[in-house]
Amino acid sequence: MSRIELHEITKVYHGTIALHKSNLVISEGMFVSLLGPSGCGKTTTLRLIAGLCEPSGGKMLIGDQVVFDLNQKIYTPPEKRNMGMVFQSYALWPHMTVFQNVAYPLKIQKHSKQHIQETVQTFLALVHLSGLEHRYPHELSGGQQQRVALARALIRKPEVLLLDEPLSNLDAKLRKAMCRELRDLQQRLKITTVYVTHDQQEALWMSDKVVLMNQGRIDQLGTPQELAHQPKSEFAKDFLSSRKEV
Ligand SMILES: Nc1ncnc2c1ncn2[C@@H]1O[C@H](COP(=O)(O)OP(=O)(O)OP(=O)(O)O)[C@@H](O)[C@H]1O
Ligand SMILES: [Mg+2]
Repeated sequence: MSRIELHEITKVYHGTIALHKSNLVISEGMFVSLLGPSGCGKTTTLRLIAGLCEPSGGKMLIGDQVVFDLNQKIYTPPEKRNMGMVFQSYALWPHMTVFQNVAYPLKIQKHSKQHIQETVQTFLALVHLSGLEHRYPHELSGGQQQRVALARALIRKPEVLLLDEPLSNLDAKLRKAMCRELRDLQQRLKITTVYVTHDQQEALWMSDKVVLMNQGRIDQLGTPQELAHQPKSEFAKDFLSSRKEV
């Protein structure tokens, strides 16, 4: 569990500003969604938090640790940030079974066989996949594959969980069920979570706070109720107009 702070963070790609100077504080244990239309900078923001790309300016803290500061030339690489990540394409290793995929982070940390066996079983139970440990990814449904990716992200006990449209390949019904499971899990583990989606229903339904983004800027930050009932800009009114019953 960790707090995330972005201070005047920017990202410029070859002259294109993907993220204008942005300030954002995500408190410990919160579930925060980054919401907005395609190209507004959601994935960029998540990748900056993960350390997968380097900001062009500003300062970032995770917990008490400064992980990026342009002025002080500090840049902590992703493997030193203790984060779990699940991306749009959940990228399981196709030649490994469910068990091997989930066990992998513990294996590279050189835990004992018995510890790995027990921990993998615990996390597979957590995502309702007990019994499928010997299957290969191609023998699983999309939702099951996403749950394997989630178990693999969680097994390292990350301080922060970063999810980029992790349910995008699922049909509406499974998506809803997975949303509920994800939110339950997050509340039980109390893990600081940043969830990227362009689906406002999902964002408003699951989050403690929603960050509405537009063209590389944070347009509005608020609770789901605030966003649904007090959209501040014309963009927010327009974007959120199709749903009010939060
Ligand atoms: N590696 C890159 N090089 C150049 N431009 C990039 C790169 N990655 C992203 N961009 C640009 O930055 C902007 C923000 O992209 P980003 O991927 O963050 O959007 P997004 O909100 O995640 O969109 P989507 O909902 O489609 O995934 C876009 O204009 C995109 O074209
Ligand atoms: Mg994206």
